[in-house]
Amino acid sequence: MITTDRVLIVGAGLGALYAALKLAPRPVLVISPETLGEGASSAWAQGGVAAAMAASDSSESHARDTEYAGAGTVDPAVARLVTAEARHHILDLTALGTPFDRDAEGGYVMSREAAHSVARVVRVKGDQAGHEIMQTLIAEVRATPSVQVAEGVLASGIEVENGQVTGVWVEKAREPSGRLLIRTPAVLLAGGGSGGLFAVTTNPPRIRGQVIGMAARAGARIADPEFVQFHPTAIATGEDPAPLATEALRGEGAILVNARGERFMTAVHELAELAPRDIVARAVYLERQAGREPALDTRAALGEEVLTRFPAVAQACKRAGIDPVSCPIPVAAAAHYHMGGVDVDTAGRASLGRLWVCGEASSTGLHGANRLASNGLLEALVFAKICAEGIAAALPAPAETPEVALDFPPGGCVVDETAVARMRRAMTDGVGVVRDAAGLTEALRVIAEVEAAAACEAMRNMTATATLIAAAALKREESRGGHFRADFPQTDPVLAQRTHITLAEALEIRARALEVR
Ligand code: SIN
Repeated sequence: MITTDRVLIVGAGLGALYAALKLAPRPVLVISPETLGEGASSAWAQGGVAAAMAASDSSESHARDTEYAGAGTVDPAVARLVTAEARHHILDLTALGTPFDRDAEGGYVMSREAAHSVARVVRVKGDQAGHEIMQTLIAEVRATPSVQVAEGVLASGIEVENGQVTGVWVEKAREPSGRLLIRTPAVLLAGGGSGGLFAVTTNPPRIRGQVIGMAARAGARIADPEFVQFHPTAIATGEDPAPLATEALRGEGAILVNARGERFMTAVHELAELAPRDIVARAVYLERQAGREPALDTRAALGEEVLTRFPAVAQACKRAGIDPVSCPIPVAAAAHYHMGGVDVDTAGRASLGRLWVCGEASSTGLHGANRLASNGLLEALVFAKICAEGIAAALPAPAETPEVALDFPPGGCVVDETAVARMRRAMTDGVGVVRDAAGLTEALRVIAEVEAAAACEAMRNMTATATLIAAAALKREESRGGHFRADFPQTDPVLAQRTHITLAEALEIRARALEVR
């Protein structure tokens, strides 16, 4: 056991690093499973950050679009709070050196993405926003003496005494080791979402719901776990994770076609390819299920410019031997973002004392049942700062605090990747774009089996999150946003409420479902 006065930050994406900088000069310890910049979803974000930067736009309009996309369960106060802060954070990132795309007059170049009423997504080098923002923050973190980064370290448990978080269990991320308990006065969880719990995902390989699961196992309340966002245009070449073809391509006029050459979105929604993401994802999924091979056609909209203006997409196509200049890009719906997460209030506080959560690991009420495009990075920025301010206010004045030495004991275990693959398949098959009671129950059965055989804490964290997602999806007998039930296809106005659930409650739902099977 180690005791430190450093604030402990679990995760190394945008929210984690931004919070570490906002806490400076207060000493913090950032726990990162990978080398900074690798393995965090933030660095893979292509589109950018949604922010009303144009004179003709407003944060009120941005909040309205957020609520509309969220399908009835967005918290309007949170939408107002986050969208009103957006401008401030873009200017802050700019001051730190993020090279946002600018026009000839120095204004921000904005992309249009689905369900935004105007072009409102600030971007970097076309589709490089996540990578470039992260590079800016990493350089800043490396130059900030108060931030200690422990790379190659995985958080796998939370210690709680009398309802207060007192520490975090850590182990080596890249090889087996025994666990160490780091006791700390405050913990910020910023370790990403759950997309990797699904077999088809755009998330980095390690993003498998571990942080949400760890918090749930410690007793933290979880919100909206059933709401998973599937991105409609993951490039379908069998690569795992599936590379993304950013929504900004559709904002530039790229269209979705099927093997018959039909532009199928025009029959589905008046906004066609720019309909809310859940609607486009479902249409793409159904085309693929019907064997009609959906594809994204960028040819008329972008021609050869796709290669230079969207370098990440061009590179992914090249890896798969696809030439987007001469043929449409095959696409599939893939688990992309978890609207659910650790339930937090508007100060970023979880239901356990001394625990703050930001970014995709949290559920603030901003996203409702379907996140508006590029609101993810924005929420991470806004709540990272809010959490940093809350933590600073809750603790005594910072003092000199030595760096923490992590000497891991021998021991440990290796996650059974065959079992992980089985669970991911069950999640995609039963808890994916289109769900029903039978499929959800079968997924819960597989999760329970994997959990019963689990030897590692990391695996139990994954099964906890998978259980929360599937159990809450089974309980919600309606369709709303990213949660579509083939056996309850209508939206039920009576159920226009957020889910608040504990792991114990989810396990009860699971047990009942498996009993009556
Ligand atoms: C995209 O670029 O399509 C993804 C943006 C997002 O997930 O918000």
